[in-house]
Amino acid sequence: MESGYRIALIPGDGTGPEVIAEGVKVLNAISKRCGISFEFNDLGLGGDRYLKDGVLIPDGLIEELKSNYDSIYLGAIGHPDVKPGILERGILLKLRFELDLYINLRPVILLPGVYTPLRDKSPEDIDFVVVRENTEGAYVGAGGFLNKGTPHEVAIQESINTRKGVERCIRYAFEYCRKRDRDKILTLCAKTNVLNYESDLWLRTFEEVAKDYPDINTNYQHVDALCMWMIKNPEQFDVVVTNNMFGDIITDIGAIIQGGLGIAAGGNINPGNIAMFEPIGGSAPKYAGQKKINPLAAICAAQMMLDYLNEERASSLLMDAIKATVKELKSLEAGRMGYSTTEVGDMVVRYIEENG
Ligand code: IPM
Ligand code: MN
Repeated sequence: MESGYRIALIPGDGTGPEVIAEGVKVLNAISKRCGISFEFNDLGLGGDRYLKDGVLIPDGLIEELKSNYDSIYLGAIGHPDVKPGILERGILLKLRFELDLYINLRPVILLPGVYTPLRDKSPEDIDFVVVRENTEGAYVGAGGFLNKGTPHEVAIQESINTRKGVERCIRYAFEYCRKRDRDKILTLCAKTNVLNYESDLWLRTFEEVAKDYPDINTNYQHVDALCMWMIKNPEQFDVVVTNNMFGDIITDIGAIIQGGLGIAAGGNINPGNIAMFEPIGGSAPKYAGQKKINPLAAICAAQMMLDYLNEERASSLLMDAIKATVKELKSLEAGRMGYSTTEVGDMVVRYIEENG
């Protein structure tokens, strides 16, 4: 029987629509070769919709996504005419929280032929995955001001960490590490020398859960030191698990060492349920409409989606197509690829048609 999936599209702002168009084109090529069908539905959300009628996420959409869709495929959120924070909180973070997408999965994998700014490091050295908690920590928006706007102003930003939230994230990371074909080392990234409540809970939970995974080696690093090691010895990492804020920061280091925003993708996952996949590069408004942006990050996000849907053949075919395509590009950076956005999408499609 042919498997079929309903995918909600949020092309979003800036270059988002251009890269999602390429991703959809590639998924349609996969569909023909692998006997999978996709039904795409564009939700039409983003900065333009917000500027038109003030809507960020329409009423009822969250329930509809939960019951009627397998995945969300997101381009980028962020519009030059909208104050920073409104679209991010109102759309991206709202979807992460309301759909309880508690895992943010960020592979940091250097593909052969891709430039890394780390001299002497090759694909064998840069091959790890960050499991970032995605619904708690400093991101919940808890806190407040006292005496706002006065010289005595106080701003409080609270980091919320629940045992349940921490434990499910750590368990997922152990499971992921067990399935991954690498060194079976899970590193906890926290800051136990300063964050005496939050990191204490993370470390205790990590050590307790570790007892259920005697086959996985455990390691601990403070976040500041881990930033250095990601540059100096990235080969020591297999899977890294961390909180929302540290995960946000370290995965930007991850993105640059794997070749930059032209290739970096991530998944927001509620394991066993709906998930949302996205290139992590943002809306890049200065490149919008010019066909200069690299669609490979969005195509990598589509590959992660296939993997999540357990479409193994389709996902490995698409990964092969991505690997073949990166070798053809002069650079992964916008405007320097030697090809346009659509030409890069066409190269991926051609590989699928010829090898699928
Ligand atoms: C990311 C982004 C988001 C985050 C922003 C756009 C809110 O930087 O997905 O890493 O901070 O999580
Ligand atoms: Mn980020």
